[in-house]
Amino acid sequence: MDERTLSPQAQPADQLDAALRIKRLSELRGQDNVRHNLEILIEAARRRGDSLDHILLYGPPGLGKTTIAHVVANEMGVNLKVTAGPAIERAGDLAAILTNLRKGDILFIDEIHRLGRAVEEILYPAMEDFALDIVIGKGPAARSIRLKLPRFTVIGATTRLALMTAPLRARFGAILRFDFYDREAIEYIIRRAAELTATPITPEGVTAIARRARGTPRVALRLFRRVRDYALVRADGAITADVADAALALLAIDELGLDTLDRMVLETLIVKFGGGPVGLETLAAAISEEPDTLMDVVEPYLLQLGFLERTPRGRLATLRAYQHLGLPYPGAPEVLQPPLFAEMENGQGQPITPDEP
Ligand SMILES: Nc1ncnc2c1ncn2[C@@H]1O[C@H](COP(=O)(O)OP(=O)(O)OP(=O)(O)O)[C@@H](O)[C@H]1O
Ligand SMILES: [Mg+2]
Repeated sequence: MDERTLSPQAQPADQLDAALRIKRLSELRGQDNVRHNLEILIEAARRRGDSLDHILLYGPPGLGKTTIAHVVANEMGVNLKVTAGPAIERAGDLAAILTNLRKGDILFIDEIHRLGRAVEEILYPAMEDFALDIVIGKGPAARSIRLKLPRFTVIGATTRLALMTAPLRARFGAILRFDFYDREAIEYIIRRAAELTATPITPEGVTAIARRARGTPRVALRLFRRVRDYALVRADGAITADVADAALALLAIDELGLDTLDRMVLETLIVKFGGGPVGLETLAAAISEEPDTLMDVVEPYLLQLGFLERTPRGRLATLRAYQHLGLPYPGAPEVLQPPLFAEMENGQGQPITPDEP
């Protein structure tokens, strides 16, 4: 399948992205829970002249976990070393990283749920006691020595809290959850992007993009870029509601921000599996996608919209999903009336359903 325009996992494409990146905590809109907790953690560490507590950030892709790790390092005035769970293959790799840290440094571990067992075991004493246990020699002559590490901070990020082991989770002093952004915050992000790129945009233009951004800054910025291109090529460079609507229609992104893959998932669930329940693996196989992509990228937003339910027996399409696709609901046709769009307008939805076990 082609790279999705909407994919919250797609990597930043151009230097525009660097210009739009936020650098200070005060620039963060929405995500109040995360911001307030970080403000206190940072201020307390500053006053004590100590390193920050270890922080775990979790939530769906594209909501700013990586961004916030950089912001925190910036606010603390310390170095940030970036690595990722799958990149640290052997215990020795992690030992090398740890021995190169300086006092106060932040080690950012992305996809921390993908660390191997042996690597994790090195991390426990490192996080807890700032110590590195290494074994020298083999067999009966082997002995373990303990190296002292400088006081450093781990910031871990994951889209899958449920896949993290309990002992690793327990070593974080703060566990902060990212939620989808509300409409106001997304509009702020789009206005800010327009300002920084000197793109004329009407308030209706901002709303037209924000409505389809799935409460996700990465998606909002991506759509903004596409609409901006379209405005330049097909209009006079200014983004109005009409320009945004036309540009997004061209990308096959509908009123609620669903793209081709989202609709294909719902349609397959409804048409092929009678609305479910059907297992994630089966559903993924039916559309030749990775179960992980469905779980991380597609499902969180469909759940938030109330289009999908995760039940012990599998995925279930809701009445709303049928309505959105204009498909007849096999249940009770007389209840086909909830004002779907009106309810979606305020952006902020229910909390994210936790990962399945
Ligand atoms: N609060 C925000 N305000 C403005 N831009 C933001 C905000 N949060 C994120 N962004 C932008 O959205 C994009 C995605 O953010 P980021 O890479 O930090 O997400 P992430 O949560 O780490 O995603 P993933 O789980 O895929 O790694 C970046 O371009 C970032 O600059
Ligand atoms: Mg990230």
